[in-house]
Amino acid sequence: MAITGVTRPGHIQLRVLDLNESVRFYRDVLGLTETGRDSSGRVYFKAWEERDQHSVILRQADRAGMDFFGFKVLDEAALTKLEKDLNAYGVATQRIAAGDLLETGERVRFQIPTGHQIELYATKKFVGNGLGPVDPKPWSPESERGIAPVRLDHALLYGPDVAGVLKLFTEVLGFNLTEYVTLPDSDEKGALWLSCSNKAHDIAFVVHPEPAKLHHVSFLLDSWDKVLRAADLMSVHDIKVDIGPTRHGITRGGTIYAWDPSGNRFETFMGGSAPYPDWPATRWTWEGLGEGGGLDVAHRKLHETFLTVVT
Ligand SMILES: [Fe+2]
Repeated sequence: MAITGVTRPGHIQLRVLDLNESVRFYRDVLGLTETGRDSSGRVYFKAWEERDQHSVILRQADRAGMDFFGFKVLDEAALTKLEKDLNAYGVATQRIAAGDLLETGERVRFQIPTGHQIELYATKKFVGNGLGPVDPKPWSPESERGIAPVRLDHALLYGPDVAGVLKLFTEVLGFNLTEYVTLPDSDEKGALWLSCSNKAHDIAFVVHPEPAKLHHVSFLLDSWDKVLRAADLMSVHDIKVDIGPTRHGITRGGTIYAWDPSGNRFETFMGGSAPYPDWPATRWTWEGLGEGGGLDVAHRKLHETFLTVVT
């Protein structure tokens, strides 16, 4: 399968309540690498295995949550085409100047029906993973510092009109629906898992009355051992855990949900299914989400926090 158009999640800008405390958390506990600071005070990070200059940006604010989520597209021609496609579909877009985010080219930003700000960009400085481009070693100190995720993997977002989001992401942005949950006694889709690759999801949505909410930002680990090690580190650092370690039935990822110091939920997860675009989407009923183990295979219940705690 060739990956064209939208290629992958590229960055997320998070609002945090105490920048210094949050930098310590994202650097020393989660184990991201700080890669820069800009003139407005934002702090930039990358996961050790990522190649581009940053994937997580922190901004001090008086309420937690997500400012925007960005996807990297194949090249500048793909960016221009997707911008035209969005406009033709009726979505207004805004061009943000190169350099507004450190080492990043022009971005095309737009609001989706759930109220979130999504952006596309083609260019960000390649800095590599520190292992070199030829005969790379398998390990670096960065790969074991803190929880040490491999990459920013996806986000789960909450807002109204997930049907509108499904149409936009599949008809304009080239995503596939991999799994979904139907609302109680209904065929209406209340939760969506969408992929622009053959990952189980690159972004996901749950219907929610308030727009533009963040449920969690997720970081990939490369083994179940690393998820259990993350649980130990969360305990050592008194990180508040929401769910897990357990497995999601949906996507089949091994997971922990926990909260950063500002109350933004984050996930450390591993594995999961690898659906190809010709696979039909998997349906989960509302009961399947809860008692069927869609959310939590081990405990087979719908945790109350899953539907109520967002930033
Ligand atoms: Fe997730």
